[in-house]
Amino acid sequence: MKPSQWLTYVLAGALPVALLAVLSLATPRKAHADGGPRVIEITAKRFAFGPNQITIKKGETVKLRLVSEDVTHGFFMRALKIDEDIQPGTPTEITLNPQTAGTFTTICDHFCGANHGNMNMTITVVE
Ligand code: CUA
Repeated sequence: MKPSQWLTYVLAGALPVALLAVLSLATPRKAHADGGPRVIEITAKRFAFGPNQITIKKGETVKLRLVSEDVTHGFFMRALKIDEDIQPGTPTEITLNPQTAGTFTTICDHFCGANHGNMNMTITVVE
């Protein structure tokens, strides 16, 4: 084998391997492969939460990740001991482990504009 042929052979073999290595590094890890709590992302935006209803099992640990798309909103539900502000640009994380089944209305308790009083969502806790 001539040196130039040898080089071509090595490159042809090494390049795909190098590419595979780069690709596997670039592949995002599956979220929460560590078996951590389920994460529910909730977006706050004048004057609604999205989704506006979530369902959690009683005794299930979940992480709520609250994100504002515009101004500061509140997130308040006394019975579930939730009282947070949601600042734009900074996600607020809450870990919940509800021990009581029921339907809980969570309100925005930080004034955010004309329809602030109607901004709410429902957390349903099922047995
Ligand atoms: Cu959102 Cu008040």
